[in-house]
Amino acid sequence: MRITSSCIALLSLYAQRIVALSDVILVKESVEVPEGWVKVGRANVGHTLNLRIGLPQPNFGLLEQHLYEISDPHHERYGNHLSKEEVEALVSPHQTSLDSVDQWLASHGLREIQFTRSPAKDWVSVKVPVAVAETMLNTTFYLWKHLESGDLVVRTTMYSLPRDVHDHIDVIQPTTIFARWKAMATTLHRPGHGDFFKEKSKSKLGAVDVDLSCTEAITVKCLAQLYKTAGYVPKATNKNGLGITGYLEQFANFADLRSFYESQVPEAVNSSFTFFSVNGGLNNQTLDEAGEEAGLDIQFAFGLSYPTPGTFWSTGGRPPFIPDNTAPTNDNEPYADWLDFVLKQGKIPQTISTSYADHEQTVPEAYARRVCRGFAQLGARGVSVLFASGDGGVSDGNSDPKTQQCFSNDGKNTYKFLPMFPPSCPYVTSVGGTFGIPEVAVPFSGGGFSYYFAQPPYQKSAVASYLSKLPPGHYDGLYNREGRGFPDVSAQSYPFQTWWKGEALLLGGTSASSPVVAAVVALLNDARLAKNLPPLGFLNPLLYSKGVNGFNDITEGNNVGCGTLGFNVRLSCLGLQSLTFPYFKATAGWDPVTGLGTPDFLKLKKLFT
Ligand SMILES: *[C@@H]1O[C@H](CO)[C@@H](O)[C@H](O)[C@H]1NC(C)=O
Ligand SMILES: *[C@@H]1O[C@H](CO)[C@@H](O)[C@H](O)[C@H]1NC(C)=O
Ligand SMILES: *[C@@H]1O[C@H](CO)[C@@H](O)[C@H](O)[C@H]1NC(C)=O
Repeated sequence: MRITSSCIALLSLYAQRIVALSDVILVKESVEVPEGWVKVGRANVGHTLNLRIGLPQPNFGLLEQHLYEISDPHHERYGNHLSKEEVEALVSPHQTSLDSVDQWLASHGLREIQFTRSPAKDWVSVKVPVAVAETMLNTTFYLWKHLESGDLVVRTTMYSLPRDVHDHIDVIQPTTIFARWKAMATTLHRPGHGDFFKEKSKSKLGAVDVDLSCTEAITVKCLAQLYKTAGYVPKATNKNGLGITGYLEQFANFADLRSFYESQVPEAVNSSFTFFSVNGGLNNQTLDEAGEEAGLDIQFAFGLSYPTPGTFWSTGGRPPFIPDNTAPTNDNEPYADWLDFVLKQGKIPQTISTSYADHEQTVPEAYARRVCRGFAQLGARGVSVLFASGDGGVSDGNSDPKTQQCFSNDGKNTYKFLPMFPPSCPYVTSVGGTFGIPEVAVPFSGGGFSYYFAQPPYQKSAVASYLSKLPPGHYDGLYNREGRGFPDVSAQSYPFQTWWKGEALLLGGTSASSPVVAAVVALLNDARLAKNLPPLGFLNPLLYSKGVNGFNDITEGNNVGCGTLGFNVRLSCLGLQSLTFPYFKATAGWDPVTGLGTPDFLKLKKLFT
């Protein structure tokens, strides 16, 4: 910052005050380490951290108001999406925050030339050695190991800031974040799930006009029949797009996609997708390194929406890393990196699906709020953002029943349902799972209520109606009645005929459901763009109002979690035997298992175009 001579006197007055205030250091954030991590030892002081500092967005409330107005089909501004510049203006920080943070960084010898800023200047990143970060944040960084995977991260459980910058910083990461963002693809031959599928596949097809083989394996054709996209010919492929995100070095393999197309979508066999590498994300086309999750996602999303142009982003940043390497690695906050990348683009695919999530409680709240606001920015720009709702029912999202847990990690070990983030963010559309024909809720379908995010206005009446049907006091204390309920919608999740490493393989999970709904949304956007209407953008206010009648309401089945043997032993220790096998049930109307139901493309097209 340049200082003019006329300011010097004034500044020296302030300087005395600043020095005095800087002496006062206050805790900014403090977390409990989630179960499954152990402290290995002090972090190497030379290890480089890429600190991302989020400055407050004082006008975010206004952005949210715009978002709700332009996404409400009954509002006169419906569809008037904002430009990149308009959104940036609404999330930019006050100049006083910028100055205050710059001054603080300068006091640690850090200068503008070392900073990377987001276009709105609401994020500033700077690479510093652990030793410097420890001084800046009055903390000690340790090396932590994730027991199950062996992954290593450099983290702390608390950091502090001088009082005079406290209000000018929302969040600094990576510091306290222990989330693992695991992919939610699940294989067919897992104990438990294979059994319920066999049971279900005996059921009759009923009135639904779908091939008999769809009770054995779900293909693109099954989904097109079931959700009524069969026969629709996309017309706006010059304007429309569908994007899939990949994390944790999941490579989307071109050869597997081709094999998949040869067997399921022959007309698409010569088509491909656009690849973007984010933050060093790899694109290894060696067949034996193809990702299951990436393969499942792109094959069904692009296959069902063909010939809508597809995009795949591979975002880097996966543990393990070499802890004494001084190169910055392993930020392990991939959504922020991806949002950074995509929000800088002038043109973004109108529909984006992500099949990764973690327990909300392992994501520090301040960070979750900032990431969620990033999704709101996409919505305001006319992008529909979809997330798989998780594969653990009401439990911690761990699809292996043996290790499913329902305990808080706030140090109190409170027994409660565990929602998933980002599906719990109110600005995304969260997709749960169904299976069988006719469709019922799939037991692993993630659903419940956020502890971080309040119930958004668009779903208040739908959620109230669900809650009013529960017996009085039902599961009181196990979930947050006032929280954002999820999922919003659902789709088939099991078992999908996918190609992986050169072979056909059955895969499942809400990982499969989200790309399917995204493909249907992309086709709805196609129909709108072909009529020169704006894309659907943020979907939820539309889905919960005008859209309700365009979904097949799923009224049978329930999700599971917190009900396994190991769990019940812990429960009885707590004197809670009567609460064994708690779950939510699918009901008429919205429910926290299947949301509003599965899409009927023809009905939705009629309602939305
Ligand atoms: C700063 O660090 C010191 C030494 O670790 C500690 O005793 C003190 O409580 C910390 N202060 C704050 C506000 O975090
Ligand atoms: C794909 O490309 C090959 C070789 O150019 C061509 O023979 C074939 O007809 C194409 N298939 C489709 C479905 O376009
Ligand atoms: C990528 O592919 C090459 C071979 O082309 C291989 O040697 C390498 O180990 C692969 N994996 C990664 C993560 O780069």
